[in-house]
Amino acid sequence: MTVNPASQQGKSESKDAQSDVDSCTRILQVMEKLSHIKDVDALLDEVLLQARLLTRSDAGSIYLIENNVLKFSYIHNDTLFGASGVSRYLYASQTLEVDNHSLAGYAALTGEPLLLEDVYHLPAGTPFIFNDTFDQMSGYRTRSILAAPLITSHNKTVGVIQIINPRSADGQPAIFTPGDLLLLDYFADNAASAIERAMMTRELILRMIKMCEMRDPKETGVHANRVGAYAAEVYHQWSLKQGIADDDIKRQKDLLRIAAMLHDLGKVAISDLILKKPAKLDFEEFRVMQYHTILGARLFQNQASDLDALSAEIALNHHEKWDGTGYPGKIDDIYQDQFPLGAGKQGEEIPIAGRIVALADVYDALVSQRVYKAPWSETMTLSHIKDQSGKHFDPAVVDAFLAIYDVIVAIREKYQDEDSSALLTASP
Ligand code: C2E
Ligand code: SIN
Ligand code: SIN
Ligand code: FE
Ligand code: FE
Repeated sequence: MTVNPASQQGKSESKDAQSDVDSCTRILQVMEKLSHIKDVDALLDEVLLQARLLTRSDAGSIYLIENNVLKFSYIHNDTLFGASGVSRYLYASQTLEVDNHSLAGYAALTGEPLLLEDVYHLPAGTPFIFNDTFDQMSGYRTRSILAAPLITSHNKTVGVIQIINPRSADGQPAIFTPGDLLLLDYFADNAASAIERAMMTRELILRMIKMCEMRDPKETGVHANRVGAYAAEVYHQWSLKQGIADDDIKRQKDLLRIAAMLHDLGKVAISDLILKKPAKLDFEEFRVMQYHTILGARLFQNQASDLDALSAEIALNHHEKWDGTGYPGKIDDIYQDQFPLGAGKQGEEIPIAGRIVALADVYDALVSQRVYKAPWSETMTLSHIKDQSGKHFDPAVVDAFLAIYDVIVAIREKYQDEDSSALLTASP
């Protein structure tokens, strides 16, 4: 549905044929880039960025369909959080029904893209209302919106992309044109297939983790999801401080999100008697438990891809400590039959991904219930982490973690109560 397309004639610049060809060439190049991204969140980030570049828009969001509801899944907003900022809004947990009561619901239901000049002045007879909760909370003013359903080549609707507030070539606020609508719709259909593939990868990994953790009913995919998301965002913050190039940050963050989810896969080889013991492990039991790092690393032994190599690195190093008192330590050959653990790796001998997942994992273990412990309070957990800066943890990693603490809390909320329909739980 294009709301009053005729009224836009003359208000907006018209696109000539050459620029249409340029846009289509661009989309083909972008699709090639999307095909290399593995993780869903990294992919949505790039899809949103490219959709916004195509239309020079300030903000946007993506909803994905899970269990027949639209789940808020990604957001960009240059005005509010800048182009490369880490934001708690990424982890908001809003859901919408697939019906004509919301913009996104309408686009998903009808399969038609939607162009609105001003969401605060919807044309008479529009079935949906604009939900202004985000604007209310953030102080942002949403005006013009383009929404397109994400429909794969197999005719499956995987979600909806919305882009918001375009600018003219000279940076002035503008409204979307019917040309923008066609472009976004074409792009959305191409992006949908890449998104479906990444969603399947995430599902497959979660299923693998659930299989391992079925033996321990308290553990689910949410712990893995949380550790993956904490690690990715702490890495993002840490690497901005290191001055690492944007493209390198994105590539590493994509892999880290997935590899960090797999940090404890080696526990599958540890006996139930130890894993489920509702009490403190004795010395010998804890020694057995420590081998989950090596067993995990062995699972990725072929290291056929960068993702395998990083997964092995994290499994092996996530219990090393900055001051050298961690495990399994320096070991010549992790494939020997029997061997003692080595002397702990220290400082930057521990790969950065290991240093980051160490903090992400301990934070999550402390604030969560375990068979062997009650959850710690927020205050106790944070003072423990600060106390362990320079001992258990790399001080630069602790600094990055504390700098984005609001994002950490939003992640915890998102992956705790998946059914919660609370909107934007962290206040601005
Ligand atoms: P996990 O439950 O995922 O815990 C990960 C890490 O969080 C632990 O590594 C430890 O560094 C930290 N952590 C967890 N709970 C506490 C705590 O109460 N106090 C402190 N100071 N740190 C805590 P760690 O110690 O190497 O343990 C690795 C894994 O071994 C744990 O993973 C858990 O599966 C198992 N485990 C460790 N201790 C016990 C225990 O006393 N009883 C049982 N049943 N399992 C244990
Ligand atoms: C141990 O059981 O020896 C130590 C495990 C822990 O840190 O809780
Ligand atoms: C808190 O919420 O407990 C404090 C957050 C912080 O220290 O950054
Ligand atoms: Fe572990
Ligand atoms: Fe863990």
